[in-house]
Amino acid sequence: KDIAMIGVPMDLGQMRRGVDMGPSAIRYAGIVERLENLNYNVEDMGNIEIALPEKQDTANDGKLKNLSGVIEASEKLSDTVSGVIEANKFPLVLGGDHSIAIGTLAGVSRHYKNLGVIWYDAHGDLNTADTSPSGNIHGMPLAASIGIGHEKLTHISGYAPKIKHENIVIIGARSLDEGERELIKEKGIKVYTMHEVDRLGMTKIMDETIEYLSHTDGVHLSLDLDGLDPHDAPGVGTPVLGGISYRESHLAMEMLAEAEIITSAEFVEVNPILDEKNKTATVAVALMGSLFGEKLL
Ligand code: ARG
Ligand code: MN
Ligand code: MN
Ligand code: MN
Repeated sequence: KDIAMIGVPMDLGQMRRGVDMGPSAIRYAGIVERLENLNYNVEDMGNIEIALPEKQDTANDGKLKNLSGVIEASEKLSDTVSGVIEANKFPLVLGGDHSIAIGTLAGVSRHYKNLGVIWYDAHGDLNTADTSPSGNIHGMPLAASIGIGHEKLTHISGYAPKIKHENIVIIGARSLDEGERELIKEKGIKVYTMHEVDRLGMTKIMDETIEYLSHTDGVHLSLDLDGLDPHDAPGVGTPVLGGISYRESHLAMEMLAEAEIITSAEFVEVNPILDEKNKTATVAVALMGSLFGEKLL
């Protein structure tokens, strides 16, 4: 029961300041004590160094903003995450914007033949430079991980793809760009939109998700706090109304804990500058508690 926690103060994947303080906010909300109370050994490895937005030569390249900085950070994160798995510890990555998933998955998937991914998010993050309305790389990590997009993003750590599109489950989607919709249809990617969350309920969605991923040899949870409703998680850069509730999210985490399928996780997009008294980091810590087995009775 060893967890290695890696902070990634990444804000280069989008243009709003403050998300680089996400790891600090999550630590301040008590993540280490929370996990230690569940009898885990927690090693806080500190933060990966991220270049300053002011120093980016590609900052205003409309198609892939801050590309060089994102690549540099992704390579570092990939190696760090890979080292954690080699040491037989559970990698828990704290963001930072969602572009960090490119590096996390590059590190994780070196160790699995058939990695599954649960993408808990309001968005698909399946854009490429050609389909992105913003040029923000935090809208592209899932595409990059299945080998679609700029070669430099798809080939972090020298190989592609990191995951198979049939091993992905997206939960909570309610904002998809045209190119993302086309890609989802073309590849047949499994998506539970908010329509399905309302219609089926979270219990059925998690039962189906666990079954859908049962053939994999590991499952990475990539949880974007904007998957939750902004009422419950206001401190995010791209909030979308009508999201997953706090209660449904706890249920989802508890069912994953019970199924014992999660082998790595990241919690991203916590932005304390946009938050209300660190509410969103506090929610993130509570969800991590449930994911790692916290129970009332
Ligand atoms: N689809 C939009 C874009 O490509 C928003 C992406 C938001 N992504 C996120 N990880 N919050 O810019
Ligand atoms: Mn999102
Ligand atoms: Mn190749
Ligand atoms: Mn996201």
